[in-house]
Amino acid sequence: MHCTITAATADKLTTNFGLGLVASGRMTGFQSQSRTRMNLKQHLDQRISQALSALTGQSDCVAMVAYSKSAQFGDYQANGVMALAKKLGKNPRELGQLLAQQLQLDDIVSKIEVAGPGFINLFVKPEFLSERLNKLNHAQLVAPAAQPQTVVIDYSSPNLAKEMHVGHLRGTIIGDAIARTFDYLGHRLIRHNHFGDWGTQFGMLITYMQDLGNSTELGTHLADLEQFYRAAKQRFDAEPDFAERARANVVKLQSGDADCLAMWQRFIQVSITHCQQLYDLLNITLTANDVVPESFYNNRLQAVMDTLIVKGLLKESDGAQCVFLDEFKTKEGEPLPVIVQKTGGGFLYATTDLAAIRYRCAELGAQRVLYVVDARQSLHFQQVFKVAQLAGFAKPECSLEHLSYGTMMGKDGKPFKTRSGDTIKLVDLCLESIERARELVSSKNPDLSTEQCAVIARAVGIGAVKYADLSKNRNSDYMFDWDTMLSFEGNTAPYLLYAYARIRSIFRKAELDTEANYVINVEAAEEKALALKLLQFTESVETLADECLPNQLCLYLYELSGLFMKFYECCPVLKAEGTVQQSRLGLCQLTALTLKQGLELLGITTLEQM
Ligand code: ARG
Repeated sequence: MHCTITAATADKLTTNFGLGLVASGRMTGFQSQSRTRMNLKQHLDQRISQALSALTGQSDCVAMVAYSKSAQFGDYQANGVMALAKKLGKNPRELGQLLAQQLQLDDIVSKIEVAGPGFINLFVKPEFLSERLNKLNHAQLVAPAAQPQTVVIDYSSPNLAKEMHVGHLRGTIIGDAIARTFDYLGHRLIRHNHFGDWGTQFGMLITYMQDLGNSTELGTHLADLEQFYRAAKQRFDAEPDFAERARANVVKLQSGDADCLAMWQRFIQVSITHCQQLYDLLNITLTANDVVPESFYNNRLQAVMDTLIVKGLLKESDGAQCVFLDEFKTKEGEPLPVIVQKTGGGFLYATTDLAAIRYRCAELGAQRVLYVVDARQSLHFQQVFKVAQLAGFAKPECSLEHLSYGTMMGKDGKPFKTRSGDTIKLVDLCLESIERARELVSSKNPDLSTEQCAVIARAVGIGAVKYADLSKNRNSDYMFDWDTMLSFEGNTAPYLLYAYARIRSIFRKAELDTEANYVINVEAAEEKALALKLLQFTESVETLADECLPNQLCLYLYELSGLFMKFYECCPVLKAEGTVQQSRLGLCQLTALTLKQGLELLGITTLEQM
């Protein structure tokens, strides 16, 4: 719709919209606002929302500030005018124009423009960028959260009966990046490795151990957990007597039989050690302190049952204790119960998860509980969360979030397996990646010593596997492909690691101090684009903590590197002189720091030299 402003409508608009603005004339500047630790995007959003409220007399205006899609539309855009105008029955463009006239953002922007049907384009001032960048704390680029939260994150959490395989990779890598980010932002972050160490499989494994008897021989057998599991399973399937003893051992174990417990303990220890070796190889922050496995909740299960009974949530069905919820039905409309106790008394996966929610919320005081678990368990979590809320294990204000992720696919579009169709051991995958990286690095740079090459290969190989996964939206399945992840071009770990090393080499070759205080003074367009991006690191990290999507930080780092490359092409650094050189060095220094910090949040080790 196109509409011209007549004298009458203009008058009406000003009287309606003009009034409030006087009252809001004392809007706080960025300086005082930043003490409440708002990032630039939030700050602009708040000020423009306030201005809209002042202009329209509506209390709940939302400016909807977003990044502009391209530089011609400025740096940020406020997109909320259209919806507001519609609600008020006004012409959006006229409302936009009025807003643009009245907005007082001189401290931040140099130009405000109304585009299309009422988009407000904002062009950030170079002086503002320089000033903010010069004030950044290099040791902590992003200020700690103003209101730190207690957050429990449950991730990796493999079953200990078997060796870790590729299926555990995504949850481990993605969970760790999210955990690092919360830590970095100063939240009270509690890692839980909810190891599966208490299922029926352990009866089978214990029985197999008992039959092997001799403890030195047992040690050799346990060295290959995958093989061990397979051998035990074979006997379980083939020998009814073995299976019978295995089932009896589950009961004995769960009722505290000393011999069974000792065997179990020995097995678990071997398996946890194996996991820890992988965490160390992958540079995952999980340690022995974070182990809160299923067995931990064993003596908390009865209390869960008692509460469910008191709350009237339990119902018997074919001898099993179940919770039936109206919102969960099969396609055919049949009820889909949450089974919490089997016929015969055994508890289930869901029961343990209920106990875990109660522990995390009630005893640890978690405000957010994050579950980084395969998308195939999404029904399980929906059900368990619902039951936990009804039973009061989690207060309504505690946010239970299943951060699901898709399957890792091979190039053939099927779940990633070996050629013979076996699951790939995680350790083999990591070692292969390091080996591939070593070949690549030594072919690119034959002069490297063996030791140098090994260090670089490890960082590149492990970084590539992690980054390839992190850079995709976790909700989708993702295709594992060696060639793409190890490429030095595109949104990959090698590209970013190289970008970082390249900046560091500028300083090294010119023998410049990397720690010096270089004063930034943004002038050229490429400097401005880079400076704005650097300032947006905060926004990127805070968004990661809100939305738990590490791919957004990956994209940010990739774009930052791209802007740096452009800047470096267009704005000579070492050939420049005086304050211009100082300023450009400052931009180089800050880019390197940001890349290093960003990659660290993703769990990727940077290299000074490649
Ligand atoms: N051990 C489970 C599995 O391998 C994952 C556990 C996830 N965490 C949880 N609290 N249920 O599938």
